Amino acid sequence: MKQYIGDISERAVGSTVELAGWVHVRRNMGKLVFVDLRDSTGIMQIVCVPQELDEASRTAAEELRPEYVVHISGSVQKRSAKQVNVAMSTGTIEVLAKTIQIVSKAKTPPFEIENEDRQANEELRLQYRYLDLRHERLSKTMRMRHRVMQFVRNYLSEKGFVEIQTPILSKSTPEGARDYLVPSRLHKGKFFALPQSPQQYKQLLMVAGFERYFQIAPCFRDEDARADRSPGEFYQIDMEMSFVTQDDILALTEKIFIDLAHELFPEKTITKEPFPRLNYADVMKQYGTDKPDLRNDTTNPNELAFAWIVNFPLFVKQTNEDHFHGAGKTWAPSHHMFTAPRPEDVALLDSNPGQVRGLQHDLVLNGFEIGGGSVRIHDPAVQQKVFDLIGFTEQQKKQFQHMLTAFEYGVPPHGGIAPGLDRLIMILAGEKNLREVTAFPLTNDGRDPMMDSPSEVEKGQLEELGIALKKK
Ligand code: AMO
Repeated sequence: MKQYIGDISERAVGSTVELAGWVHVRRNMGKLVFVDLRDSTGIMQIVCVPQELDEASRTAAEELRPEYVVHISGSVQKRSAKQVNVAMSTGTIEVLAKTIQIVSKAKTPPFEIENEDRQANEELRLQYRYLDLRHERLSKTMRMRHRVMQFVRNYLSEKGFVEIQTPILSKSTPEGARDYLVPSRLHKGKFFALPQSPQQYKQLLMVAGFERYFQIAPCFRDEDARADRSPGEFYQIDMEMSFVTQDDILALTEKIFIDLAHELFPEKTITKEPFPRLNYADVMKQYGTDKPDLRNDTTNPNELAFAWIVNFPLFVKQTNEDHFHGAGKTWAPSHHMFTAPRPEDVALLDSNPGQVRGLQHDLVLNGFEIGGGSVRIHDPAVQQKVFDLIGFTEQQKKQFQHMLTAFEYGVPPHGGIAPGLDRLIMILAGEKNLREVTAFPLTNDGRDPMMDSPSEVEKGQLEELGIALKKK
């Protein structure tokens, strides 16, 4: 059984180890060959001395090229003083090879692995993403992303939250973007929609009595990409709670982020605790944006300036960009149609909807919106009123009848939030683009050059679905 490089320290000097991994670098030094062997946990210097090797291993040592997969056994020894490399965690030791076996050969990669070239053409990087992911920076980011997810999972589980997976084959949930549609074979002419978020399901889980739900939830939105906006799928740390006030939601979320930063990112500092709570109207006036960068030094990636933005208007004027069902009518929900009005503003729903403020909260970090949420409407009459204000026809209202019906069977007051995982990781990793923190991202124009998707499908598949393509 192979040993992991990361587990081998000076304590192993004198013992025999079995390693397996990729040739990171090979250096020919006259008769000696030095190999930097890389596995998922680190890099180990291997010294190949011809006299120490059997015939087959000697030939293998000659043949080795970067990215070959090899199996090497040998004895751990201290490096000579000249060879010590303090920059490497295994920099004081090396392995004197006894046997070398080539497991798979590798072509010359389309870009260098050991010397990360950030300038490599992105199309090429994404086409060979499995090679791109060998780069230390990307590999470290993936591991960091894992630790953040793990932290959140443990944290919320300990607080009594239940992780529940909600459907991917779902129905359109209007969050302001276009839906990805999936045709149904059994019900021809009908479509599932991939969820833009689990919003309705998580509210229904509150009706079901779970009280505390979370999910690291895949979300799908057909949007034009930006550096901080994926054109396809992304993940939310989706949460919902019953019998809570807006203050409760903010306090819990704030605590998670503070504890997460302290535990996983001790090198980072939080600009202000508790997080400032700013009125939407005030930040717009002062900064001209609802996601101001509040760092003392906006060039410092290790400063984390969180802030809450509250008291958003419940409605904004609708534009043609709105992709929810009431498009074309006067009002659009500023967050989404399930956000509750502030109780003192409910009366204004009839007289002056534009003045109604919502119980919405956005979490802002270093100039990005990293999360949004709200206290929800749980009074069917108020929900009806909001549907009317955004111009729902009776037909459109019917699509949400299950929410109104559910609310007739004992609905607790509830609310929640959904921080965007990818955006959060992007900021914590000091990256400028979501693609750098996503294992297999789509290009800016919504393609995967590695899988070559989206792609055309067999005629028979379309026929089964009852779909005919229009001639171009
Ligand atoms: P909202 O639409 O504000 O709220 O989304 C919450 C957070 O998800 C992230 N996000 C994205 N990240 C990457 N690419 C995208 N295209 C993208 N779109 C959104 C952002 C954003 O702040 N159901 C509600 C939440 C709630 O009310 O509880 C929702 O989805 O970080």
